[in-house]
Amino acid sequence: MITRLDHIAIAVPDLQAALKRFCDDLGLSLAGQEDVLPAQTRTAFLPVEGTRIELIHPLKGQGPVQGFLDKRGGGLHHICFESDDILADMERLKGLGYRFLSDAPTPGAHGTKVAFIHPKSAGGVLIELAEHPPAQGH
Ligand code: CO
Repeated sequence: MITRLDHIAIAVPDLQAALKRFCDDLGLSLAGQEDVLPAQTRTAFLPVEGTRIELIHPLKGQGPVQGFLDKRGGGLHHICFESDDILADMERLKGLGYRFLSDAPTPGAHGTKVAFIHPKSAGGVLIELAEHPPAQGH
């Protein structure tokens, strides 16, 4: 079951410039950064009232986020909902005809298990589902 909006991810070509915008200009706080190797990204976390903005930047100029930047420049990349049972949600949504980018969940930031719904089966929006490890739950 989907329980909350986990984060909104923005692809940025220049992480330092984006941190300056969101922290210095808009006044959000940087809670941390993490390299997410399976996604080939460095991710910066900016919490804001019950959810967070994630700035995602390609590691070594490679991976799907680099492809997104090459095609469209920076911008909104995906929204992520927290799931309390990602396998059950994937099965249910597959049964409704949604396609996923992977057959099974993959490791995400913060020890999560994540899966992405293909934007072509979701009205052009890339939707991520994330299940947090039990000890860390929100
Ligand atoms: Co995400």
